Amino acid sequence: MIVVTRRIPEPALELLQAAGDVWISPHDRPLADDELHAAVKGADAVVTLLHDRVDGDFLDAAGPQLKCIANVAVGYDNVDVAAASERGIVVTNTPGVLTDATADLAMALILIVTRRLAEGERLIRSREPWSWHMFFLLGTSLAGKTLGVVGLGAIGRATAHRARAFGMEIVYAGPRRASEDTEAELGGARRVPLMQLLSTADVVSLHTPLTPETRHLIDSTALRQMRPDAYLVNTSRGPIVDEAALVKALRGHKIAGAALDVFEEEPNVHPGLLELDNVVLIPHLGSATIETRTAMAVLAADNALAVLRGERPPTPVNPEVLATG
Ligand code: DGY
Repeated sequence: MIVVTRRIPEPALELLQAAGDVWISPHDRPLADDELHAAVKGADAVVTLLHDRVDGDFLDAAGPQLKCIANVAVGYDNVDVAAASERGIVVTNTPGVLTDATADLAMALILIVTRRLAEGERLIRSREPWSWHMFFLLGTSLAGKTLGVVGLGAIGRATAHRARAFGMEIVYAGPRRASEDTEAELGGARRVPLMQLLSTADVVSLHTPLTPETRHLIDSTALRQMRPDAYLVNTSRGPIVDEAALVKALRGHKIAGAALDVFEEEPNVHPGLLELDNVVLIPHLGSATIETRTAMAVLAADNALAVLRGERPPTPVNPEVLATG
């Protein structure tokens, strides 16, 4: 049996249903841990979403026949991969298919926050009188400015490409240097230490996975490095930013603004952020296009079905399990 923890696009469901028995949650909400554990009992594969906590208890509740966790997201910080590997369970994610949608959203957020578009929109809706004048809602131009990309993976690179089209220079920080070709394609992008990136970039865009090392990577020390006219954009995972420290930095105008698609305790948002005008808040929409969500779900279904057939899935997270399986 294949368990699907929440409704997914029809083409993916059809693929799964053509292959065997499928149980899909009837609830249009995340399942609580005890509901999840009851639902996955006896499953051969589970198609999970980023709000499902897949830990040792979940895997034990499913039982020893479980072969695959197919997470419908590129990020898999909700899955205890080590616990899955120990039990010989293949974990898969959905890289690639959401790169453009997420980079589009990062670029949109860069534009919204630097041009103060959300403030303008709120002003119109408030029905307050307004008139054009030379100093009305002035933002910041992007051309000639520097984008600091934290994590130059596929989405970071795609965001940098978009920023180049707006005339921005690129610096990046991350564990590895990109190839010379990639750096050249990005107009001579330079890898710099994170603290240097933070102190030089006009816009800092986060594209790093959430791991124990990156949790609160952007804390009060990191925020203090940023310039008072710089912006922070996060489309990766909420806990990479210490939200309480960000609220302080925004309140004190230590940075110019922030645009966030993700939050530390989703779906909750730090109440301090809600009171501030210099922050744009979007409800985790990075991959939210019809085409992208369909492609993600189909890739997850392909992954689950490949594992159940005993084949190598297209995008495994723990391929070492396949080697020993
Ligand atoms: C992902 O795939 O990790 C995204 O956050 C989903 O939108």
